[in-house]
Amino acid sequence: MDPITNPYAPGAGSQPPELAGRNDVLERTRITLARVKQGRPAKSFMLVGLRGVGKTVLLNRIQEIAEEAGYRAALVETPEGKSLPEVLLPSLRRILLQLDSKEKVNEVVKRSLMVLKGFANTLKITVGEVEIGLGIDPAHGVADSGDLEADLPDLLEAVGRAAKARDTAVALIIDEVQYVAEAEFSALIMAVHRISQKQLPVVVIGAGLPQLVGLAGKSKSYAERLFDYPQIGALAPTDAQAALIEPARREGVLYEPDAVDEAVRVTNGYPYFLQEWGYHSWNAAIHSPITRNDVAQATQTALASLDESFFRVRFDRLTPREKAYLFAMAGLGSGPHRSGDIASRLNVAVESIAPVRSSLIKKGMVFSPAHGDTAFTVPMFDEYLARQQHLKP
Ligand SMILES: Nc1ncnc2c1ncn2[C@@H]1O[C@H](COP(=O)(O)OP(=O)(O)O)[C@@H](O)[C@H]1O
Ligand SMILES: [Mg+2]
Repeated sequence: MDPITNPYAPGAGSQPPELAGRNDVLERTRITLARVKQGRPAKSFMLVGLRGVGKTVLLNRIQEIAEEAGYRAALVETPEGKSLPEVLLPSLRRILLQLDSKEKVNEVVKRSLMVLKGFANTLKITVGEVEIGLGIDPAHGVADSGDLEADLPDLLEAVGRAAKARDTAVALIIDEVQYVAEAEFSALIMAVHRISQKQLPVVVIGAGLPQLVGLAGKSKSYAERLFDYPQIGALAPTDAQAALIEPARREGVLYEPDAVDEAVRVTNGYPYFLQEWGYHSWNAAIHSPITRNDVAQATQTALASLDESFFRVRFDRLTPREKAYLFAMAGLGSGPHRSGDIASRLNVAVESIAPVRSSLIKKGMVFSPAHGDTAFTVPMFDEYLARQQHLKP
């Protein structure tokens, strides 16, 4: 059928034509935001799930919901190798400048900008130096000790006071939290703790791979008190069906029932795969309804396309030893796998490959669902590697 009207949206962070099966999270978001805005205690949350389950898409939706609820919201992503303050500062600066309205000068907002400047100076981060610089001196003695666990709470408290002075609230939404360094995550937890103690209208919502849960380290007990970690996973069968059927129906296109069943079966209900199968089934079909045969044909093209993009992107950045580790895991099946089993498949001692496992966890390729177990962070990655024997180091 006409590829121009193809409604499906495979791609990292691509807004799906139908956001299926996520009402619980969205409802929880609305409640949390409303409570925080009213200065009531609320447990915030970090969405936890494998790659391609729809975490980024949810965070985008959460940002919209926050803005609809009258929040100033910022959505940031923590890329590998960039510090959390560097990532947060430009957004915090933008929010404070928005609060700093020219007509109604507010001393609390001014003061927050000074705190932000002191914080940035201390960390030697330049964020729009020129704009913050105009008439604003850095504050002294607040958020400028050089110890992030003291300074980030000071900074978020200042932001919270500014928001409160302007009768609004601030949502900081952070994606790919698993790449935040442990010390920075700990500082973030302390900052959220401070805000909640002072009942300031600031909420931090995050998302990331399962390893983010282990980041809390020594601030673990705070983290557990302040955050829930809702699991975002594959869609339940009826939601997976809706994710395929609804977008087509809006274009006047139907599916044969066994075509949908087949697509849900091969994708296991994983959102990214559903988009990919929907997209390729649409293009394979000559006319409505989309048949089981069209889906079977799509399986070929969808897999080829996933192998070139979704599966491949991060694999290319691994060292030969890391690749060998993953091939050994894949050889054992979908997992999770015991470290001992992976080691024996590689014919080496467990201790000798522990560093490789750690670096794979840091790079977001695998995680540890239970002590001594290792699993892929990408669904069906074992099958991908089975198809890619030529990439074996
Ligand atoms: N609830 C959903 N229903 C249907 N498709 C979805 C849903 N959530 C995400 N998707 C699709 O899945 C793909 C991956 O979404 P993304 O948010 O990038 O996942 P993640 O951030 O967890 O890796 C995108 O193509 C998106 O359109
Ligand atoms: Mg994402």
